[in-house]
Amino acid sequence: MVTYLGTPKIETERLILRRMELSDTQKVFDNWLSDERISENRVNSEHKTVSETTERVTKIVDGYVNKDFCWWAIERKVDGELIGEIDLYDFDNTTGNCEVSYSIGYEWWNQGYATEALRAVVEFGFRQMNIHKIAAAHNTDNPASGKVLVKAGMVQEGIIKHMIRNAKSQYKDCTIYGILQEDYSKTLISPSSTSSTDSEKHVCKT
Ligand SMILES: CC(C)(COP(=O)(O)OP(=O)(O)OC[C@H]1O[C@@H](n2cnc3c(N)ncnc32)[C@H](O)[C@@H]1OP(=O)(O)O)[C@@H](O)C(=O)NCCC(=O)NCCS
Repeated sequence: MVTYLGTPKIETERLILRRMELSDTQKVFDNWLSDERISENRVNSEHKTVSETTERVTKIVDGYVNKDFCWWAIERKVDGELIGEIDLYDFDNTTGNCEVSYSIGYEWWNQGYATEALRAVVEFGFRQMNIHKIAAAHNTDNPASGKVLVKAGMVQEGIIKHMIRNAKSQYKDCTIYGILQEDYSKTLISPSSTSSTDSEKHVCKT
């Protein structure tokens, strides 16, 4: 049974995962939601106006009244910059399973931030919320996301053809990953660790 705890603050070595605030809107727009390099790998298109971002951030902020709403803004400790977001969603009370998704602003790619945030959220999900399984899917043409998932201990389960249709109406094949709580307990992945694992050979894309 999942223990819903809302969106508490989580600290890692270099990051603070915290609730999104309305005052973050401009940064969310500037740093990732207006950027086509990010939206290419998401279902929705990039935002053209800040008002689209305001609408989305407002929905997130309103969501915090619900205990089963887990949506973190990712802030760098070194300069307080808001660099991305990560959320647990689609909780299934029958299985205790859910999914995870994340985005990091282009300026901060390839510095291990997504991996660090994901490891912290996976640890929180299993140890604090008692989630049974965390799953993720990424487009097969987005190998960086596959690397992130593997570095967080997730295992490739298969590929689903034309699983999504993006904002440009392109069908995308997706690689599915998952990790069970019982397997996580055996791997002992440290949230602050940024080193690679053997399983990185399972490369995929979101
Ligand atoms: C996917 C994403 C979150 C990765 O964030 P990040 O902070 O750069 O990730 P990390 O630095 O933790 O890890 C990225 C890894 O991918 C690797 N990588 C980057 N580009 C790659 C490519 N084209 N092919 C293969 N590997 C690649 C990096 O080398 C790194 O691996 P390493 O640590 O072994 O060197 C970021 O690119 C992003 O936000 N993309 C757009 C949105 C998105 O795809 N979200 C995920 C949806 S499932």
